[in-house]
Amino acid sequence: MESLTTRINLNNGTAIPMFGYGTYKIKDQNEAYNSVRLALKNGYRHIDTAAFYENEKFVANAIKDFMEESQTKREDIFVTSKAWKTELGYDKTLAAFEKTMNEMQMDYLDLYLVHWPASYAFDDDWENTNRQTWKAMTEIYKSGRVKAIGVSNFLTHHLDTIIDMEVTPAVDQIEVNPGFLQKDTVDYCKEHGILVEAWSPLGRGKSLAHPLLEELANKYGRTVAQIILRWEVQHDIVPLPKSVNEDRIIQNANVFDFELSDDDMTAIDEIPPYGNSGHSPDQP
Ligand code: A2P
Repeated sequence: MESLTTRINLNNGTAIPMFGYGTYKIKDQNEAYNSVRLALKNGYRHIDTAAFYENEKFVANAIKDFMEESQTKREDIFVTSKAWKTELGYDKTLAAFEKTMNEMQMDYLDLYLVHWPASYAFDDDWENTNRQTWKAMTEIYKSGRVKAIGVSNFLTHHLDTIIDMEVTPAVDQIEVNPGFLQKDTVDYCKEHGILVEAWSPLGRGKSLAHPLLEELANKYGRTVAQIILRWEVQHDIVPLPKSVNEDRIIQNANVFDFELSDDDMTAIDEIPPYGNSGHSPDQP
């Protein structure tokens, strides 16, 4: 049976746990440290951070302390970070990676992502910027200091700017929540062997109040959060829910012992947008 630690292979053969823990908006050092510890203690083995979250150091400390106390090996925990959108281009991306490695003090990362694409909407040379960024990412990958590289918030037209380059992104981490499946991008990724990860998988909590989802929660004897996260898992999307509350950390991960029917999957797919952030990658 699939579980929180079940791994799937990325397009370069790196194995990634199919469910992760997100740390966006956990800026407080103690809260970042404590909640990552709680996630690891409760079986999560995939932790997602980013330079933009301003918590890389505390997330990394939590991972290291947990490893030491529980005798868990580094290779059993999957760690992701990202280069922010102010660091696009060849030189800046290389420098951003060094800064992240300096903060995290790890020998390697499992996954490093370009957090946000350059877009025609705010960069006249956006296609070239994306290619230069990706050239730096490829160099970082070849150095062996990251097991895989990918992107985040790249829609199909952004992916098009780098898809012919030497290394295909292993991951695209985009916003996915009920009413906001971003099917064009998900289909493009599937076609190119790019794994989709979901940020804001619960719509930052906004997605939790919906009559259909409440009905399904009653039907399956689950919480709405579990229905949503299960819907993402069944779409082969890796959700990265964030919670600082241990009960919810446990609850969110408890989605591997039931299955949504095809009809219920379709019903959730067809919910009109309602819990999404409204942030477009084509806005500055
Ligand atoms: P908290 O950290 O207090 O648990 P997302 O993962 O989409 O970014 O959503 C995160 C938000 O949803 C946070 O505000 C978090 O609050 C809340 N949240 C996470 N899991 C649950 C849950 N199972 N039930 C209710 N709220 C949740």
